[in-house]
Amino acid sequence: MPDHHSHVDGARVLADLHALRAIGAYKTGVHKPTFSEPHIRSLHWLTERLPEAGLTAEIDGIGNVLGTSSKPGPKLLAGSHLESQNYAGWLDGPLGVIYALEAARVINADPAAPGAIEVAAWCDEEGHFGSFLGSRSYIGGVTEADIDAARDRTGGRAMRDALREAGLAGRTRAVCERGRHIGYLEAHIEQGQTLEDSGLKIGVVTSIVGIWQYRITFTGEQNHAGTTRMADRKDAGLALARFCVAIDDRFPAHCGPRTVWTNGRIALDPGAPSIIPGSAEMLFQIRDDDPAVIARLEGLLRSMAVEVSAHGPCTVGVECIRTGAPAIMDASFQSAIEAASTAVACGKSIRMPSGAGHDAQVLATVMPAAMLFVPSIGGISHHWTENTEEADIVTGAEVYVDACRRLLRGSGHDGSR
Ligand code: GLV
Ligand code: MN
Ligand code: MN
Repeated sequence: MPDHHSHVDGARVLADLHALRAIGAYKTGVHKPTFSEPHIRSLHWLTERLPEAGLTAEIDGIGNVLGTSSKPGPKLLAGSHLESQNYAGWLDGPLGVIYALEAARVINADPAAPGAIEVAAWCDEEGHFGSFLGSRSYIGGVTEADIDAARDRTGGRAMRDALREAGLAGRTRAVCERGRHIGYLEAHIEQGQTLEDSGLKIGVVTSIVGIWQYRITFTGEQNHAGTTRMADRKDAGLALARFCVAIDDRFPAHCGPRTVWTNGRIALDPGAPSIIPGSAEMLFQIRDDDPAVIARLEGLLRSMAVEVSAHGPCTVGVECIRTGAPAIMDASFQSAIEAASTAVACGKSIRMPSGAGHDAQVLATVMPAAMLFVPSIGGISHHWTENTEEADIVTGAEVYVDACRRLLRGSGHDGSR
């Protein structure tokens, strides 16, 4: 038997998602980088909705929106993020926030439901200014010096200026009260093709990848593109291109079954048609859910840099600029999502790892955390064409709210808070 899923208002969930999509719309997606005007407008939009769910809303000093409840009993923290990648999709982030809002609207008003859902929209999950700054701040992992140093990766705007312009300067940053929550539940679009290919509706996330990022720099010699003989050149751009190809040749023999690697940005200096680049830089990312695999690949990357430098004519440096531990999702939370899928979605679920990073991996360091996925059409994400069938969005909301009820009921909490 479905467990209260009739209380989910699918039309309301879709209307809310479309309302957020209209803020900062770009083609069929959105352009809502962190602390852009449409991002801030989305945060305020959410704070205006949270009281409907019996929650007291605040935007804290790093741009997290938090809705807190005074209802007695166990509390489940629920949410995701509202900013987007540049010119990207409408569901990456907002889906999880609106599911959390819907769960809070349905459960917090129900006197028969034990406890409450508290809602969070974490700031900057998409890493415009750092990595998981909002959720890491909430668990006490971001210093004032980190904020002083943070710059927007696209335009270079200082985070302090962005916070001031958003009216958030000087506000207190919310910090997690240990023991307040029985755990954290985040819903998200899958951003891959596993669910679509298998005709399933719900992904029960088992683990979230770790993300390691490197700045790889190449140093040669800037010179004239017309007068410098080919044999005499120290072309840093060419060295970079060769290095990319070498990575693709050599990594497969050392990687794990799910390892992925990406050259996200390449820059040549000076980057002009008539000048041999004297230096070049690439941002390189490795993802895996096994830290040992990452360590092995980082070792290989560094040894390749040493080899290339020894051979010449350019030198190569590898600097690690981001590390992130993989996270295992809580076993009993996974069972609750699976039970909800059985009750509400004919058991059309599958356990699967997440290749994308999510705030749940940060929250998992301080409380039980779990995630559920809904299908992505064609597996496309981080692009404005990202989409999910509306029927799948509604099914996901029903499973999510049912899982929330199960978790609150099964928490064994004494109800004293
Ligand atoms: C999050 O959006 C990621 O890049 O995995
Ligand atoms: Mn996301
Ligand atoms: Mn994303």
